[in-house]
Amino acid sequence: MKINLQVLEIEPSSKKTLTSFKKRLKQAFSILGLSGKTITIVITSDNKIREYNRRFLQRDYPTNVLAFREGDKGKYLGDVIISLERAKEEARVYELSFENYLLALMIHGLLHLMGYDHERGIYSPWLMLKNEIDLIERLCPDEALLKFLKGREYMPAKLAVNVDHVATVREARKTYYPDPVHAAVLAELGGADGIVVHLRLDRRHINERDVRIIKEVIKTKLILEMANTPELIKFAKEVKPYQVTLVPERVEEITTEGGLELEGRVEEIKVAVRELNRAGIKVSLFLNPEEKVLELAKKTGAQVVELHTGAYAEAKSEERRMEELNRLERAAYMAKDLGFIVHAGHGLNYENIGPVASIPQIEEFSIGHSIVARAIMVGMKEAVKEMKELIHRARA
Ligand code: PXP
Repeated sequence: MKINLQVLEIEPSSKKTLTSFKKRLKQAFSILGLSGKTITIVITSDNKIREYNRRFLQRDYPTNVLAFREGDKGKYLGDVIISLERAKEEARVYELSFENYLLALMIHGLLHLMGYDHERGIYSPWLMLKNEIDLIERLCPDEALLKFLKGREYMPAKLAVNVDHVATVREARKTYYPDPVHAAVLAELGGADGIVVHLRLDRRHINERDVRIIKEVIKTKLILEMANTPELIKFAKEVKPYQVTLVPERVEEITTEGGLELEGRVEEIKVAVRELNRAGIKVSLFLNPEEKVLELAKKTGAQVVELHTGAYAEAKSEERRMEELNRLERAAYMAKDLGFIVHAGHGLNYENIGPVASIPQIEEFSIGHSIVARAIMVGMKEAVKEMKELIHRARA
């Protein structure tokens, strides 16, 4: 067995970490029956890994680990590249031991070199995770790390397509076309896992007729976004969508501006959640990705939280964007730990979906404007298909 370890980025204080890392790696090699094989491991920075990610995988963002497989025939297995910066930051965010987390990333890369893949197939994501957990159990039975790994889901995230802006075009001329009902059906044919409509207080795009007919014709699930008003709760109970997402609403706003304000409103939301749940409707709350907000949300009894990705999507600098991405990661992890089903949405498009879609705790994305805009150029089916492919690819 030969390990070429190229350390491009490490402070002297981390030398001890590397010695124990190499020792445990040798154990992993022997458990996996890889004696006689050779690999190269490069430990580097965020900038460098981003460069590799962009050059070889067309993903323009830093990631924690990349694996480039050579094939199983020869002695050489391939290369594993790890960003030390990202490994440190993630270990801090997830409150894990850095040494053990680094090993977990390495094992993840190593399994990729052996042909496991969490992007393709139904069984291989599960098998890959199972092997990762088995190996960590044998090499360093760190309870926090095992709990973290067991909580990861490599199931591809779902895409719920919001068709509001098809109705916006219709309302621009107060005519009867284009019909959001047609768009909903085409979105499903393109692979949408659900259809979202926002019945706004001023009915500026979607109206009651649209919601009713979409509910009748689609084969997936209908998600109704709305403000918490008695009139809309009554309507939801009558139409019975699969899920209601409660959102804040100001009539003058161009689009939903922020997450729900829960301070002092827990009781009011709790009543709405209970009433909708009793009618068999799941409830999601649209929230800013903040710890305090999530804690309050837990008290409302809602089943789902949708994390507001607007600040991430609108960030004006790369640094700010990374900060917002970290905020979303932390919130997603915490929300899942609190027992919520985690969704995310707002402002997501074909350029910025990658990094958020790689957060494993997020089960579904709600995307509207960018898909409808792209559909004008390439058609609804194709626009949905392209977005789904990006979401699936990001689960690397
Ligand atoms: N999620 C919620 C709660 C929203 O209010 C909206 C906008 O209607 C979206 C997601 C979709 O945002 P966008 O149209 O920017 O994709």
